[in-house]
Amino acid sequence: MYNVLVTHDLPGNYIDSINGINIIRRPEGEDANAWLLKNIENADGILITLNEKIDKNLIDLGKKLKVISTYSVGYDHIDVDYALKKGIKIGYTPEVLTETTADLIFGIMLAAARRIVEGDKIVREDKWKSGWNPEFMLGAEVHGATAGILGMGRIGNAILRRARGFNMDVIYYSRHKHDVDAKFMPLDDVLRNSDFLFVCLDYNKDTYHFMDMPKFKKMKKTAFIINGTRGKVINEKDLISALNSGIIAGAALDVFETEPIDNNNPLLKMNNVVLTPHIGSATDNTRKKMAEVAVSNLINGLSGKPLIYEIKK
Ligand code: GLV
Ligand code: GLV
Repeated sequence: MYNVLVTHDLPGNYIDSINGINIIRRPEGEDANAWLLKNIENADGILITLNEKIDKNLIDLGKKLKVISTYSVGYDHIDVDYALKKGIKIGYTPEVLTETTADLIFGIMLAAARRIVEGDKIVREDKWKSGWNPEFMLGAEVHGATAGILGMGRIGNAILRRARGFNMDVIYYSRHKHDVDAKFMPLDDVLRNSDFLFVCLDYNKDTYHFMDMPKFKKMKKTAFIINGTRGKVINEKDLISALNSGIIAGAALDVFETEPIDNNNPLLKMNNVVLTPHIGSATDNTRKKMAEVAVSNLINGLSGKPLIYEIKK
């Protein structure tokens, strides 16, 4: 019987319906990484989230490990090259979360542009004293504005379709030109022309701090940056300086360099940013679909069948 370590309960409890595996769940309150380290030696498979760090040390300790199934589209928490070198299969959950994540990313963009969160606070905190007023809480116009997309993968493409629905002009920069209804441009032109810059790049060592001060300086002073993929693609210190000094106008962020965010992070005090707690894929339906895929990846990997979504290099 295969031993499988499961770090988090997943919506739908699909794993409970699987016969022939010994499911070992992390006890409540135990640190997931420490628990994995302690138990990896006898594990044939692991079902993890993006919180767990699967590094060389853990992989070396996992002498029987055949499959790593991560409940996420991102896999920057896994030493993929090393695991693959060891013949371990790696499953992940792309596609099923693309549209849901794009909805959230588009939503926080709208919230930042039209000051929705700020407005909500003013209403609740009884600070709405002026009534309707011609110059009260003016925001940035979305329709007709230029959306710039960095990275035309699945999520970039889903943002493009939403931007089109809002009658935005869409330009993009990507490693390759894609057959999409948007204008492919050199990076500098996308930075210079975007009113709303959506960062949809995969995170890896090449895209670490991709957005930094020199790039912010190329953007419009009126521009907003939106990030819902991985925090480390943006140099957050530079972003904070750019926002504080008026180099760009605002930001909408669902992801951060440190998660959960430190309570002394200057972003928390800024009115021109909208912040959400990494909830891009957080709908009941999508989280269930991700669970189905992650469990299938795990089981298929153990039984030598092709994974639904497998990371290959
Ligand atoms: C979420 O960020 C994911 O990688 O699924
Ligand atoms: C994420 O960027 C994806 O391509 O699904």
